[in-house]
Amino acid sequence: MKKTLAIALVLIIALATTLSGCTQNDANSDLPKIGIIQYVEHPSLDTIRENIIVQLEEEGYVDGETATIVYKNGQGDTNNLKTIAQSLESEKCDIIIAIATPAAQATAKIKDTPIIFSAVTDPVSAGLVKSMDNPGGNITGTSDAVSASKIMELAKRMVPNVKSVGALYSSAEVNSLSVINDLKDYAGENNLKVIEKQIMNTSELQQAAQSFDGKVDIVFSPIDNNVASAISAAVKVFNETDIPYFVSADSMVKDGGLATYGISYVELGQKTGKMTAEVLRGADPATMPVQVMSEVKIYINKNTAEAIGLEISEEILAEATDLAE
Ligand code: TRP
Repeated sequence: MKKTLAIALVLIIALATTLSGCTQNDANSDLPKIGIIQYVEHPSLDTIRENIIVQLEEEGYVDGETATIVYKNGQGDTNNLKTIAQSLESEKCDIIIAIATPAAQATAKIKDTPIIFSAVTDPVSAGLVKSMDNPGGNITGTSDAVSASKIMELAKRMVPNVKSVGALYSSAEVNSLSVINDLKDYAGENNLKVIEKQIMNTSELQQAAQSFDGKVDIVFSPIDNNVASAISAAVKVFNETDIPYFVSADSMVKDGGLATYGISYVELGQKTGKMTAEVLRGADPATMPVQVMSEVKIYINKNTAEAIGLEISEEILAEATDLAE
């Protein structure tokens, strides 16, 4: 009986150790530990994470074989992010990858572990780095900055006579504010009226989308995590009210936004994975410039165009990638 108890105890301890993240069992204890913290689940961030992991494998860091990867998701809640960041710190990861601005901001408080952020639109405004070229601390990474001006130029080519644009975004995301500032600059110079609607959380998205009915010619959303994670609610409203909805990421077009001029999140994931591997091999984040993406493409959704009765010109069709499913 005692023996059975002892065996059970050993099994419980072994299981608890396996479940507790970065903490290693003996066989893996000298493998590099890579923590990944992601703000929320939406297709774009998931694509980034998957491509980071693929790239790490190519660099020789295979989870469970040559490295231990611990992945945690904040489920869109900044309190969760704080707890996760603390747990990654106490588990002594060799490097932490933070996906999206709120995750990077929560993680940046850790000063003795190198951090690589991914898909942070404006790392300087987010207070993560001193400058794009000279990060200066233990943190650097990749940016997915997009140009609201270029997306507005695309909007003008697709929708005749655009005079007013609704701006739909979260008040708490600095990544969105930075793109909205670009939108306002463009609007000021191009005689375009901007009507803003900020949301505090995803449950407000549908009503916010409805508020634009009859008031604007088009609506625009920046690379906003909360909007992206509940975008179908907005798309449904805009399809019913026939409003062309311009967005900022290919995944948001795939999920029903009309169009964007955006970067490749596959390329972004790969670059993040490469930077992580470089730091694991000894490079210093302080002197590694933040990387921005070189490929920018037009993405459209033909189903959405059809739903709102918008005809897309041959010229745009020839240039664009259709993401309708
Ligand atoms: N750029 C966003 C940030 O800084 C994260 C992000 C990446 C994103 N891809 C996206 C947000 C697509 C919305 C849609 O947090």
